[in-house]
Order: sequence, then C-alpha cells, then structure tokens
Amino acid sequence: MSNIPTIAPERLPELLRAIPKAELHMHIEGSLEPELIFALAQRNGVSMPYASVEALRQAYAFTNLQSFLDIYYAGASVLLKEQDFYDMAWAYLERAKADNVVHTEMFFDPQTHTARGVPVKTVIEGLHRACVDAQAKLGVSASLILCFLRHLSEEEAFATLEEALPFRDRFIGVGLDSSELGHPPEKFARVFARCRELGLHLVAHAGEEGPPAYVWSALDVLKVERIDHGVQAAKDPALMKRLAQERIPLTVCPLSNLKLCVFPDLAQHNIKALLDAGLVATINSDDPAYFGGYMNENWLQTFAATGLTAHHAWQLAANSFEASFIDAAAKKAYRERLDAAFDAFA
Ligand code: ADE
Ligand code: ZN
Repeated sequence: MSNIPTIAPERLPELLRAIPKAELHMHIEGSLEPELIFALAQRNGVSMPYASVEALRQAYAFTNLQSFLDIYYAGASVLLKEQDFYDMAWAYLERAKADNVVHTEMFFDPQTHTARGVPVKTVIEGLHRACVDAQAKLGVSASLILCFLRHLSEEEAFATLEEALPFRDRFIGVGLDSSELGHPPEKFARVFARCRELGLHLVAHAGEEGPPAYVWSALDVLKVERIDHGVQAAKDPALMKRLAQERIPLTVCPLSNLKLCVFPDLAQHNIKALLDAGLVATINSDDPAYFGGYMNENWLQTFAATGLTAHHAWQLAANSFEASFIDAAAKKAYRERLDAAFDAFA
C-alpha cells in the first residue's frame, strides 16, 4: 500500500486489533493454558507435580530457553487422546479468530507425544480435525507444520517422519525446535534433504539464543524457506544483507524473547531495526500460554515499547501473508483485505 493513512497514536491499538494477519510461529503445545492442563490431567488421570493452576502459573519464571522447555514438556504430558489434541487446538483457534488472525501455520511436536506412547495418528488427526472446523466454523484457515526436536538424534527424526508419512496430506511442512545451543541445524541435514524431496515446506528455529552461524547453516545446509526467530542475525551485517536481498522471512516472537531473556526489556527488542533494514520480519506468539499473550498482545506490547508506527503495522501484516505457505491467489486476497482494513481507518 503506497499511502498509509495518518492514524492518531491513540487509535493505533484499535488499528492493530482490527487488521487481518497471519500467524506463522506458534507451537500448539505452547497454547495449553494452565486451566486446560489441569482439566486434561483430571480427565486422563495424569498426576501433575503442581498443586494448583496458580502454583503452575507461578512456575512460569524463565531464565532462558531450557528453563522454559522443561516446564513446557511437563505441561504437554497431559495430552493422550485425539480429543485432547482437538480441544487444545480449538481453544487456540478461537483466540486466533478473536485477534483477527485469518491464517495460521501451527507447529506441533510429535516426539513429545510418541515418547509417552501416543501414536502420531492420534496427534495429527486431533489437530487436523480442529483445522477443518476452524475453516468451516470460524473462517480461519489453519495448517500444520511437524517439528523435529533438535535435542534428539537425526535417526529419531527419521523414525518420526516415517511414522507421520501415512498422514502426509495433513501437514504442509517440517520445522526444527527445542534446545538450540549445541544442536546446530546441520545435525539434521539428511532428514531435511529427504523432506525436501517429499515436497514439504522447510523452516527451522535459528538465531533465537544461538549464533548467526546457525542461521547461515539453516539456510545453506537445511535450505529452509523461513527462519523462526532469527533475531541474533542482527549481529552479522553480511547475514542481514542476505536475508533482506533474498526476502527470507523471520518469524519473530517478541514476548517470547522477553520472557526467555533474549532481550532485557521489550524497548530493546530489535524488531524495528529488522524492519527498517528491509527484512521480511513478522510478529508471532510462539507459546502464548507461557509467555503472557496471544497474537494481538504481542503486537500491542511491542508497538507500545518500541515506537513502531502504523506504517510498520501494515508492513508486518503484509509480511505475514508474503511469508506464509498459501498460494498466490490467497496472498493477493488477504492483501486486499489488509488494505481495506487500513482504508476503513482513513
Ligand atoms: N519449542 C516451543 N517453543 C520453543 C522455542 N521458543 N524455541 C525452541 N523450541 C521451542
Ligand atoms: Zn518457537
């Protein structure tokens, strides 16, 4: 959009809530609210090492990625049945709808569940049914990206891929998540090459806590199409230049970065620098139940803390559609909805 209407600063929050946007970086297991964790624990007879919802929530004081992952995997242990996966995804999709998220690409971690004896089929069918209902009942388009846990071996990733392939039509791509430091992308070179042959989209977490070198190898070795997080790329001018020139999207998660101490406070987050350098950066919620906010909360708090403008808001939403794995016609239709939302504010 060439001429973004001038919007009074006091109307910016209203605009941010109203504009249609895509969410491209959220872990569905990270949308499990403490209340749902306790309800599912009771339903499934799983005992939790926390006495109450409040006690669990109080444990959400993280110092780094690993301190979060330990609690996140404990929370996911209540998921056993297909309906559990459906209920979790449906709760998120209703919140996404409320935030004007019109398209979402949700990560899921099959190995977190298969390790507890839950078949991949149970996980995928429950999540997929919620995606189908989201389109039909909420008008939200939703798809799934299967993530390999990088603290496990590449052999285990291959075994997970084999188990998931009968459901190949239920997920659009693969990603790489969990503990970043010490587990560089190249550890998964062969399994990503196989996924590429299978025509799956490829993404990877890189440059969340890890160095710019991990972003380079995610691009050059894994050949990913998007980088999840990627905020550490700002330390490497040559990498910044490449990301901008090749229009490789970064799915940035500001509240996650704050809660995992990647930045000391939100005002020091580098999202504005990334956008102003011409990168295809987007804002996403990562693990909203753990980090204090869903999509709009991430947008609102980040804009308030960093001084982003209405122009940045348009750019972020446009980037989210450009970076998504939807076809060109759908991208164009969403861009038109975005421009119409801005026009309505003029
Ligand atoms: N799994 C869930 N959230 C994650 C994050 N922020 N980084 C890596 N792995 C994750
Ligand atoms: Zn993530």
